[in-house]
Amino acid sequence: MLILDGKQVARARFERLKVKIFDFKAKYSMTPGLAVILVGENPASKVYVHNKTKTCNELGMSSTQINLPATISQQDLNARIAELNADRSIHGILVQLPLPKHLSEHKILDEILARKDADGLHIENQGLLWAGRPRIIPCTPNAVMAILEHYQISVASKRAVVIGRSQIVGKPMASLLLSRDASVSICHSKTKDLLAYTRSAELVIVAAGQARFLGREAFAKGAVVVDVGIHRPTSGDFANKLCGDVRFEELENWVSAATPVPGGVGPMTIQMLMENTFRLAELSLAESK
Ligand code: GUN
Repeated sequence: MLILDGKQVARARFERLKVKIFDFKAKYSMTPGLAVILVGENPASKVYVHNKTKTCNELGMSSTQINLPATISQQDLNARIAELNADRSIHGILVQLPLPKHLSEHKILDEILARKDADGLHIENQGLLWAGRPRIIPCTPNAVMAILEHYQISVASKRAVVIGRSQIVGKPMASLLLSRDASVSICHSKTKDLLAYTRSAELVIVAAGQARFLGREAFAKGAVVVDVGIHRPTSGDFANKLCGDVRFEELENWVSAATPVPGGVGPMTIQMLMENTFRLAELSLAESK
């Protein structure tokens, strides 16, 4: 079984991006800048946001972290986003999800200027993706495509199954696979006989959001399995350990390639956010000419 090592792919892309950013700054006297908004105190979100701003700085981009109280009103949050929309030194804006229950995710995501949408979740960017004219692609599905590309795993004409239908992963994932000529099924919590889909698939992208949900029994021999899940269970054999949606240890001598957790899709997701931020800076420059 080939282990799809996202950490290694991310490292290689990081070095290439660093050079590009260095050249860009020298040529245009402009530093790409990302603003990350964290609402509340979700511990996992805090770690993610810290890693995003840190990686940004390591690449020579600027980063601003804005911490807001969990009790902030929609109106006040919108006002903070409006400030960032107007700030010419900020090219990418990201509001860390999930948000506290009283805030509407889609209203906030649509408040960010489409041309500063580092996540690719603005309705205009989602529409462009489905129209086959992608501008900014959501980081996690883009990370999956980049891993497959790195290992020269072609998806064209393959039977692909995506488990999960979220705006952030499942739907854009299906769109990207379709744009590369895969035949795609989207499965979800209401799908009947999930294993009938997964067992006949050549490529399975698992974004079910359930720790260690699927093992060997779910996959065809020789399939490619990409695990988007990331969990830290509080009890059981994996208590306090990171694990994915897939029981990775069962896949050896069965599937042809798979991503581990940790070290698979996760490290690539942040890299794709960095690439999106740089792309937004390039777009902003092109528009100002
Ligand atoms: N929370 C978990 N993943 C993500 C992501 O890719 N973007 C944002 N904004 N929040 C997240």
